[in-house]
Amino acid sequence: MIKRLKYVSQSSTPMTDDEVEAIGRVSAENNRHRGITGVLVEASGVFFQVIEGPHEAVDALLDHIQRDPRHREVLVLSTMSNCGSRLFPDWAMKTVRVGNDDVRAEAIKLLLQTAIEARNRVTTLSRGIERIVWGEVARG
Ligand SMILES: Cc1cc2nc3c(=O)[nH]c(=O)nc-3n(C[C@H](O)[C@H](O)[C@H](O)COP(=O)(O)O)c2cc1C
Repeated sequence: MIKRLKYVSQSSTPMTDDEVEAIGRVSAENNRHRGITGVLVEASGVFFQVIEGPHEAVDALLDHIQRDPRHREVLVLSTMSNCGSRLFPDWAMKTVRVGNDDVRAEAIKLLLQTAIEARNRVTTLSRGIERIVWGEVARG
């Protein structure tokens, strides 16, 4: 059984084709040794990545990726722990850069940014709720 994880994030600074390509190349090299496969999409500064492989390898990679200063606001969209098969068995990390000149790119970018905004709204809301609850607790 393998684990499959999907996340979105935002690049810290605008990236060149070469920089995105370099992330994909190093990723594919590393992933091949660790039994990890998947896809990495970059659309106007927003990343979407699917990572699949042995549980420990996926967990360790996520930990690594979350610390990478080249992107921020890593939002895990879904985690499936007991997948019977891989979605991308032949891709150690297929990297796709979606250009600005394409109507599909706009749709993908909008979707990814909406996911990030939704997370930010939930975070603000839950902080507000926490403050109210702690206020109640403090007042007894
Ligand atoms: C958006 C994004 C996706 C990444 N995906 C992977 C990946 O699939 N596999 C991988 O080994 N590193 C990936 N990295 C790079 C890691 O964060 C890290 O730089 C890399 O594993 C090299 O680590 P090392 O210097 O310890 O070998 C990604 C980085 C970014 C910004």
